[in-house]
Amino acid sequence: MARDQRYDVLFEPVRIGPVTTRNRFYQVPHCTGMGYRRPQTLAAMREVKAEGGWGVVCTEYCSIHPTSDDDPYPTAALWDDEDVRSHALMVDKVHAHGSLAGVELWHGGRAAMNAYSREVPLGSSSRPVGTIEPIQTRAMDKADIRELRRWHVEAAKRAKIAGFDIVYVYACHWYLVREFLLPSNRRSDEYGGSLENRTRLLRELIEETKEAVGDTCAVAVRFGASFGGLDEEPNTEEPRAMIELLGELPDLWDVTVHDYSREMGTSRFVKEASLEAAMGWIKQATSKPVVSVGRFTTPDTMVRLVNQGILDLIGAARPSIADPFLPKKIEEGRIEDIRECIGCNICFAGDQTGVPIRCTQNPTMGEEWRRGWHPERVPEKGSDRSVLVVGAGPAGLEAAVTLGQRGYAVTLAEARTELGGRVSLESTLPGLAEWARVRDWRLAQLNQLANVEVFRESRMDAEQILEFGADRVALATGSTWRRSGIGHWHDDPIEGWERENVLTADDILAGVTPEGPVLVFDDEHYYMGGVIAERLQRQGVETILATPSAMVSEWTRLTDEQPQIQARLIRVGVRLETATALEAIGDGKVELACVYTGRRRTAEVASVVMVTSRDPLDALYHELANRIDIVRIGDCLAPGTIATAVYFGHRYAREMDEPEGRSSFRREHATVP
Ligand SMILES: Cc1cc2nc3c(=O)[nH]c(=O)nc-3n(C[C@H](O)[C@H](O)[C@H](O)COP(=O)(O)O)c2cc1C
Ligand code: SF4
Repeated sequence: MARDQRYDVLFEPVRIGPVTTRNRFYQVPHCTGMGYRRPQTLAAMREVKAEGGWGVVCTEYCSIHPTSDDDPYPTAALWDDEDVRSHALMVDKVHAHGSLAGVELWHGGRAAMNAYSREVPLGSSSRPVGTIEPIQTRAMDKADIRELRRWHVEAAKRAKIAGFDIVYVYACHWYLVREFLLPSNRRSDEYGGSLENRTRLLRELIEETKEAVGDTCAVAVRFGASFGGLDEEPNTEEPRAMIELLGELPDLWDVTVHDYSREMGTSRFVKEASLEAAMGWIKQATSKPVVSVGRFTTPDTMVRLVNQGILDLIGAARPSIADPFLPKKIEEGRIEDIRECIGCNICFAGDQTGVPIRCTQNPTMGEEWRRGWHPERVPEKGSDRSVLVVGAGPAGLEAAVTLGQRGYAVTLAEARTELGGRVSLESTLPGLAEWARVRDWRLAQLNQLANVEVFRESRMDAEQILEFGADRVALATGSTWRRSGIGHWHDDPIEGWERENVLTADDILAGVTPEGPVLVFDDEHYYMGGVIAERLQRQGVETILATPSAMVSEWTRLTDEQPQIQARLIRVGVRLETATALEAIGDGKVELACVYTGRRRTAEVASVVMVTSRDPLDALYHELANRIDIVRIGDCLAPGTIATAVYFGHRYAREMDEPEGRSSFRREHATVP
């Protein structure tokens, strides 16, 4: 299909200093959990983005010196020539597809605790490091500042040797250069105090980087367009004054906001293009091209921002992770094929745990090199054997789509009328509507596959499966929440769990409204406990959320939304009982215990909702395991995240009829001299 002419503007080239990008699609810097430790994994992943049409493909933050060491997180580095070789791998692959490669030179300052290098962390003043480590930074003197500038120039020169086209001065988030910019920089020398002094370091870094590599490389600045304030009323006064001072110095402004959890907000809290109020003014203050972000997946929004003169380049991290081929699909007029990011931040959680990023929507993310998976290409079927997939949740849908794309004859049977399983149900919870995209993209793909037959309202028992006679069966029947309260804290059922007033998350998803006051016992620690408490309280049911953790929804620290979840629950009026375990359920009351002292207290509640753990729905598997070729995938095998379910659905389909051993993956090894 030809592309819609409305989108032509997105495919115009844009000049950025000495280089020109072929279109306006710009993959902004994002971490990967690969960094200097996994250069081949990284290069293959970035290559796929260039192949998918991103005109610019950047690295993650890239350390310039051992005083900025983020171990155990494997960030990128340009400390020495070995690093140059690693980066050249990526750059060459990006260039091979006609895209530009950018590198975000980084000094972490107080955010880098230097656990590996054991260098003393540096700061504009001596402050506790940004992590909870009980150490402080050393206040940089002028000799340190000179050294920092030298390291930056050296790293920029290495970046040029590696072949990069765009070299960043990284002046936002909670890192060193921004620390100098903030009003809290009260140094008494010419690098602190007045606004002009606070911008001095940034000015010098831009000028020196241009001097060192500006003949062939564009110099970009990543900058926070606000210094605090409310979302609706961001404080942009000082950033404005700074851009007025420095606006024409770099070749490109890459602009975000002060609050990372907003810049990279989950869809539960932040919608597409929501940074506009904070950064919409930048282009009036500089003639240089501007890129910004906003989980952009809608081409009409992108076109509007360009046409209204707000952005020159459409920046994206997550949309490029969920669909590396997003630009190409717009170019080819295949809008319905775009695998839209759902804003869950599972990608960030992977990065935060120091392992290659993964994505709920795109199961091939991070697997490009180690398993050879491509997001748009699958191997042809390896046999003519037919497949029955039972259950159309995330795992079943993904398996059916991928098997269908490979050419297998597939039947997908779903018990309910609606397809999508848990994502259809969970997307009705407050703020989670975009999660339905997991279902919607797969349904759009199924519509294009004549070899996949879908049967709704078709619950199958063991006899029917046998009778159906498929050569292979994949059971994707999901899981149910446990009523017993067994979870992280309790190995045994909670006393009183069988009472009628004890419900589970499934009951709430099915539309049951419990009598209040209701106690939601969250011993799962992801989103479900918090979001159910929010829903019930909003419905007017007095709600208490108890959790053995010291904070609500603790695991969501990794998706960078825990503080927002806790704030939301407080604001809507949910009573929070943290560090508290549910011990017994009685008539109109429950017994709670402090997890530290064991001290018990009674709370008056009419009902309880358990969000503790799940039972796989795998009875059919046990009935049929020795009789036919049957496997379990997704929550039916092991309850987990939606991302895990999609991944295993994909892997099952991808590996079907592949030679034995394909399921293993390639590892990167440290070079031994
Ligand atoms: C997994 C992940 C890692 C990120 N790492 C970086 C980074 O290394 N440097 C940086 O400046 N921003 C980083 N970001 C922020 C992104 O550049 C971007 O500003 C943010 O994700 C919002 O854009 P989006 O809505 O297109 O995802 C990261 C974001 C994600 C999702
Ligand atoms: S993991 Fe979630 S937020 Fe991250 S890119 Fe994928 S769908 Fe988007």
